[in-house]
Amino acid sequence: MIRLSDPTFDGNEARYVNECLESGFVSSIGPFVDRFEREFAARVGATYAVACASGTAALHIALQLAGAGPSRLVAVSDFTFIASANAIRYTGADVLLVDSEAQTWNMNTELLHDHVVREAARGARIPDVVEVVHILGHPADVEPLLELRDRFGVRIVEDAAESFGAGWRGGRFDGRQAGTVGDLGCYSFNGNKIITTGSGGMITTDDPEYAAKAKHLTTQAKVPGSAYLHDAVGYNYRLSNLSAAVGVAQLERLTDLIDRKRQIADGYAKLLDGLPVAVAPCAPWADPTYWLYSVLLDADGPAPATVVTELACDEVEARQVWRPLHRQPPYADCERLDGSVADTLHDRGLSLPSSAQLEEAEQQTVSVALASALGV
Ligand SMILES: Cc1ncc(COP(=O)(O)O)c(C=O)c1O
Repeated sequence: MIRLSDPTFDGNEARYVNECLESGFVSSIGPFVDRFEREFAARVGATYAVACASGTAALHIALQLAGAGPSRLVAVSDFTFIASANAIRYTGADVLLVDSEAQTWNMNTELLHDHVVREAARGARIPDVVEVVHILGHPADVEPLLELRDRFGVRIVEDAAESFGAGWRGGRFDGRQAGTVGDLGCYSFNGNKIITTGSGGMITTDDPEYAAKAKHLTTQAKVPGSAYLHDAVGYNYRLSNLSAAVGVAQLERLTDLIDRKRQIADGYAKLLDGLPVAVAPCAPWADPTYWLYSVLLDADGPAPATVVTELACDEVEARQVWRPLHRQPPYADCERLDGSVADTLHDRGLSLPSSAQLEEAEQQTVSVALASALGV
C-alpha cells in the first residue's frame, strides 16, 4: 500500500531514546524536553515554546490563556479537523464557525473581519478569541485578524498543527512562520504530522506571562518548590522526555522533510496536469509545506469517496478531506458565517499520499491510479 503519510525515523531518534532509557529520564522532566522547547522556539522564531502531550492539549491551554471560557465566544475555521473546535468546548466557550475562502481553503478572515465590525457597530456580541487554523501546510491570511486584535482587543490563537514550517512571503509577514504572528501558536506532533513524537504538541508565544502560565497549567499547576501546593486546576499535559527525544531528532531533519514535501508537490503538479482536478493551493504570498497534498476533483466527475475506494484497489491510500464542523453533530447548532465553501471542499477534496519517503515511481503509480479512477 502506498500510504497517505507515514513517519520516518532514520536520524538520531533511536540514539536519543536510548539516552533517556540509560539515564532514567523517561517522564515529563528531562534534558530533551528543555532542548526540544528551546530548539523548537528558535526554529519557528518565537521567544518561548512549551511542550505538551498533544496538539489538542496545546490548543486547550492556549485558548484558556487567551481568555476562552464560559460565556465567551471563540471564532474558528469551519473547515478543519474536529480537534480545533473540541479544544474550544473544553474551555466552556461558545463556538462561531467561519467559512473558508476558495483561494487557500483557509478561514475567510475578511468575512469574519466584516462581520465583527458590523456586530460591534450595533453593540452586538463579538468573538473574544479567534482560533485561526492553517490547514494542510498552507498559512491563512491573518492580516484582517490582526486588525481585529488592534481595534477590538480580540486575541488570536493560531492552530498550526498541520503547518509547522510553513510561512508567509512578501508584505508585512515576510519570512514569518505560521504560529508566530498571533498571541499564541499551537502545533501537533502526532504520527502523520511533518515531524512526530508519537503524540505531542507545542505552544509558542512571545509573552513571558503566557509561557510561564502554560508551563504551570500543563504540569498540574504545582507551585514550584512547594510541598504539593496547587494554586489552580491544572492538567497532566506535559510531553515525556522519551517523546521529546524523538522530537529533537526529528527537528534535526525538518529542513529535509519540508524539502521533500515541496518536491512531492512539484511532482504532483506535473503528473496531474491534464487530469480533471485543481491542484493544491499556493497563494502568491504563501510559503506552504504541502503537509498533505490535496486536490479538488471536478464537480461533474466521480465523488471523492468513490475515488478513495478505487484507489485502495490499486494499493493507494487516499482520503476525503474533512467534513465541515457545521455538519458534525456536536457543532451543528453553532452560529456560523456561511459554510458553502467548506461544503464544496468536503464534497470535492481529496488528499493524496504525501510521506516524505514517497518515491518518484510511487508518485507515478498514484497519478496513473487516479487517472483511471477518474475515468481518463
Ligand atoms: C488542525 C488540527 N488541529 C489540531 C489537531 C490535534 O492535534 P493532536 O492530534 O496532536 O491532538 C490536529 C491533528 O491531529 C489538526 O490537524
